[in-house]
Amino acid sequence: MRCNGGMTDAHQSFLDLLHTQRVWDVELPGFDPASAPPAPLPLFHRWFAEAVAAGQPEPHTMSLATVDAEGHPDVRTLMLHDADERGWHFATHRTSAKGHQLAARPYAALGFYWPAQGRQVRVRGPVTACTPAESSADLHARSTGALASALTGSQSEVLGSAEELARTADAAWERARAEPDAEVASWTRYVVEAWEVEFFQGDARRRHVRLRYRAQDAAWTRELLWP
Ligand SMILES: Cc1cc2nc3c(=O)[nH]c(=O)nc-3n(C[C@H](O)[C@H](O)[C@H](O)COP(=O)(O)O)c2cc1C
Repeated sequence: MRCNGGMTDAHQSFLDLLHTQRVWDVELPGFDPASAPPAPLPLFHRWFAEAVAAGQPEPHTMSLATVDAEGHPDVRTLMLHDADERGWHFATHRTSAKGHQLAARPYAALGFYWPAQGRQVRVRGPVTACTPAESSADLHARSTGALASALTGSQSEVLGSAEELARTADAAWERARAEPDAEVASWTRYVVEAWEVEFFQGDARRRHVRLRYRAQDAAWTRELLWP
């Protein structure tokens, strides 16, 4: 791996641009961990509502990290479908790369980043697939476009050409409109059961507040972490 050495003009202008970027050029809210509830879910709900109120774009998107059978990590962005007493829910094809990874290693980490308030939430724990009935309900609770996208299928497989996708996606749209109850066998709702949930509040002077909840003996332990 090359870390420095001959630098091209393109690389130099990339670095110039990179080094002018700022984080948290906004008034950040405070976070008093002493006022945090005993369990992480109500705090997640509260922070989510505050992210929406602060105008955070797409606060319901998150990074989902998984590992493959060899232990190599992978990550991608997904939509959050729910957060309840069971855990944090998302849905995808169990035949996708992440689906295969979860079948081999049923553990995941989620990351939410809400820069409007300098906040981050991390969730770690085991992942379980919901029942086929719950997965089907998830699929049909969403828009025609979402159903069409699920019907397109083959997620994470190598695509031969853009035309092939256009043909398949057009047919999937037709079918989604004509058959709103169409099933997609691979569509699966998953739940991440939280073993750990960390709330991070950024601070302009870098005295970030980190509060971690750890599930222990059916109760939650709360601890502060050095930033
Ligand atoms: C904002 C955003 C939201 C997404 N939401 C989902 C989702 O809810 N489910 C899904 O399967 N893919 C979603 N994707 C696509 C995934 O990031 C990813 O490309 C796809 O699931 C294939 O991942 P994999 O190859 O690791 O299995 C989303 C992408 C973006 C950028």
